[in-house]
Amino acid sequence: MQKADVHVVSVLGLGYVGAVTAACLAHKGFNVIGVDVNSSKVDMFGSGRSPIIEAGIDELVAEGHRAGRLRATTDTSAAVTESNVSFVCVGTPSLANGKQDLGHLKQVCSEIGLVLAHKSSYHVVILRSTVIPGTTLSVVIPTLEKFSGKRAGVDFGVCFNPEFTREGCAVADFFNPPYTILGAEDYESVVVARQLYGWASAHVFETSLAVAEAAKYASNAFHAVKVTFANEVGTLFRELGVDIDAVMRIFVSDKSLNISSAYLSPGFAFGGSCLPKDLRALTHQARELNLQLPLLDGVLPSNNEHVNRAVDLILDTNKKNVCLLGLSFKAGTDDLRESPHVQLTKRLLGEGLRIRIWDPHVSLGRLVGSNRHFIEDTIPHIGMLLNPDLRSALETAEVVVIATKSVTATELSTYLRPEQIVLDLVHFKKPQKMDVTTQCEDMYAEQAAPSGM
Ligand SMILES: NC(=O)c1ccc[n+]([C@@H]2O[C@H](COP(=O)([O-])OP(=O)(O)OC[C@H]3O[C@@H](n4cnc5c(N)ncnc54)[C@H](O)[C@@H]3O)[C@@H](O)[C@H]2O)c1
Repeated sequence: MQKADVHVVSVLGLGYVGAVTAACLAHKGFNVIGVDVNSSKVDMFGSGRSPIIEAGIDELVAEGHRAGRLRATTDTSAAVTESNVSFVCVGTPSLANGKQDLGHLKQVCSEIGLVLAHKSSYHVVILRSTVIPGTTLSVVIPTLEKFSGKRAGVDFGVCFNPEFTREGCAVADFFNPPYTILGAEDYESVVVARQLYGWASAHVFETSLAVAEAAKYASNAFHAVKVTFANEVGTLFRELGVDIDAVMRIFVSDKSLNISSAYLSPGFAFGGSCLPKDLRALTHQARELNLQLPLLDGVLPSNNEHVNRAVDLILDTNKKNVCLLGLSFKAGTDDLRESPHVQLTKRLLGEGLRIRIWDPHVSLGRLVGSNRHFIEDTIPHIGMLLNPDLRSALETAEVVVIATKSVTATELSTYLRPEQIVLDLVHFKKPQKMDVTTQCEDMYAEQAAPSGM
């Protein structure tokens, strides 16, 4: 048998995810064996009845049963032996302290491992259970390897394939996914898993195990934040007598800043003259109305924590001379009001560090009005720290903190020296030379977040 041929699929765990996965794959023409430790679920599935209530699933289970493509058993060993792909869909519930309970997952992986030990044909284990990033590498693969005595990526494959179905419309979601994510550390596992989704029109992301695991959590966390955000602003505005439905109709129609990828790239903290001020006004208003809005209340503290992390990162270098690239709250402006960079500078000065600041858009002589007052009140000797010349600003620095995208890769590769520690707060795209010659630590991910308005 070719490594990449999928003939029979076993689905371990016939709960909400497993039952939908099994029934939908059978509908797409795969031979599917459902497995569960619960014999009632197996009896129902095996006789063509769905063990869960979900729109459209009864018809699919009955159809699969009639066509002989859908079977069920409590015998994991027989199902894994007979199939060449196993979906793991067991529960990963919360323990009392919130930690994920991996008991079912470890158990099912040990059972699969024992079968793989004696299986001569290539088998791919595809995880659908939601797990904390790193779990597949640190728990699933070691368990499979321990009980099989074989090596993942060589003797058998492992893939993480999160699913994005919502209960209530899971069947429709399965057939129309936003995307398909196939996470793996070896190519062959992806080749096998890909065959199962040939029918899906949405984009297939082929990525690492950890990215696939994390993408599921990012989505769920974001969905939860969206619901809570809508409920909190709805609560406040309703209390103020505002038509919240009209507000949200307008709000969601903005596909450029509101419902878009804007502000969703991890980077440095936000600041500026609007976002902090307006959040303070909203949460103050809520307090006056005796409303608890923990999400909105938590935003500014969370933003401050981001500055704290940057301070710790710099202090951890144990160096005294720091050059900060960027002072205004956003590249391309000289607005210093509530800039987190100013906050960062003040904290570092308080720790006794010597700071040089380069920002091509900030010149003390040109600052006027509230902007000038703000910086003079916050750091009175700011003029002594600013240096308009990048070369000389960097000259004495042991640590260079990139906190703006106003600097160019060419400038940096020209002036940076190999012994300088570079801390990148905005995920600046590093020039080749910097990667090789400096200790460059990325504090956050892909791009800098737009820092407020
Ligand atoms: N419910 C959802 O809509 C949804 C969506 C996306 C992801 N997930 C994730 O998918 C996973 C499964 O969720 P669910 O809601 O289907 O869980 P569930 O509790 O409804 O189903 C899990 C099933 O696994 C069975 N099981 C446990 N140990 C087993 C073993 N050793 N062998 C065979 N079967 C075993 C249980 O009897 C149960 O029927 C979880 O990690 C969950 O977070 C769920």
